[in-house]
Amino acid sequence: MSATAPAAPAAPVTPGAAPGAPPELQVGGTFTVGRLSEGVILGLAAATSRDSADPVDQALGRALAEARPDLVKPPVDPADIDPASPGRRYSLTMVRHFALHDDERADVVVMRGSLEAVLAKAAVSRRDKTLIRRNAVWAEGRGWRPLAVATAPVTGADEVGPFTVQGFVYVGQNRAKPLPNEGPADWAWVEVWSASLRAQHWINVAVVFILSCTGYIIMDPFFGPSGGASSDVGFMMGWVRLIHFSVGFLWIVVGLTRLVVAFTTRDRHLRWNEWWPLKTKTDVKRLGEVVGYYALIKRHAPLFLAHNPLQQLTYTALYLACGVQMLTGLTLFGLYHQTNWFWEMMAIPTHWVGIPFVRLVHTMTMFALWAFVIVHVYLAVRADSIERHGGISSMINGGVWLRRDAKPVDAPEVG
Ligand code: HEM
Repeated sequence: MSATAPAAPAAPVTPGAAPGAPPELQVGGTFTVGRLSEGVILGLAAATSRDSADPVDQALGRALAEARPDLVKPPVDPADIDPASPGRRYSLTMVRHFALHDDERADVVVMRGSLEAVLAKAAVSRRDKTLIRRNAVWAEGRGWRPLAVATAPVTGADEVGPFTVQGFVYVGQNRAKPLPNEGPADWAWVEVWSASLRAQHWINVAVVFILSCTGYIIMDPFFGPSGGASSDVGFMMGWVRLIHFSVGFLWIVVGLTRLVVAFTTRDRHLRWNEWWPLKTKTDVKRLGEVVGYYALIKRHAPLFLAHNPLQQLTYTALYLACGVQMLTGLTLFGLYHQTNWFWEMMAIPTHWVGIPFVRLVHTMTMFALWAFVIVHVYLAVRADSIERHGGISSMINGGVWLRRDAKPVDAPEVG
């Protein structure tokens, strides 16, 4: 993960404006992706001509003087400034002989401006871009305006190299002080889901979709030929059933793989004993708290890195429903093939309870799976939007975002 300096917002400059006048701009803080210090980024952002009347320049100058009195505001020749314009939402400023690192002075060109404009122009890794956007969302959510800062080296012959994004400063009029313990740079990316689980998840999505479509047509052949002489089209149901059975067997293989993994893996999130989350009285209490939170009775729920007990119980019930679906599918399939002992055995339950009942269970389970999918997608989008933990993308890249000081009950430490 990209190194991120802990949040040490530049002290907001308290406005000394006359009563009734619009509040002065303040600098709320600085965010760095880790290559330059926060002070240096503030210094680079503040680099303007000495007599600039721009309120943003002035706020940055004041913040630099307060937060880093040791750093002299770099003097800039007005001829070295190419200001932003409506068509180009960033300025370019040549800063000469600036100490980027302790004992290393160099000439750099600073690109300063709208976050999206700078991210589009300057080089930035995907991880840094995500980190910057997440922290910018944090700042914007509190009324600050992020101003991105990118730098490019200047070679001896005054040639400008490629720009690299370094971070941003956030400016605004909204608040004298940021909220305590709410620095933006304290997110950590924690790996939770193994590649095998993610692969199984998406195979399940595809498989359940195909089985639902073909199963629904078997249940209610609402389109296609309804008989007649043309055997070409008349075999459509045969194909639908063939797809249903083939994908059904593939799904059973996927299910068996999951079962084997549950008993052999060292990954604690995948092990079979996770399937029953209520092992102690505290677990039951936490379940009550989570239910209260979902029912809008409680304001907070205990934080879990993987599944909370309610989620885990739902997924365990889902596994059972999938098992029922596979078994009822197999016993129905057995009816057609009672020429060997295996399928004779598989068909026994259908003989006991009757074909209509098994078909009913198989169909009702399909509708239950659909209900699960709808609620599952809704809750995933909701949780991701509220908690901003990247839960949806975690099923692709395997990790979630958590605040560094977060203390999930199922993980000792974050960040
Ligand atoms: C998400 C998984 C599945 C869904 C949603 C699903 C859905 C359905 C539906 C709605 C029917 C029609 C029931 C009826 O009215 O007769 C059906 C039939 C059937 N399904 Fe599934 N099914 C699934 C998995 C399986 C599996 C794993 C198998 C096993 C290979 C299987 C085998 C069968 C068989 C043999 C029939 C009866 C076909 C016929 O009589 O023509 N299904 N399925």
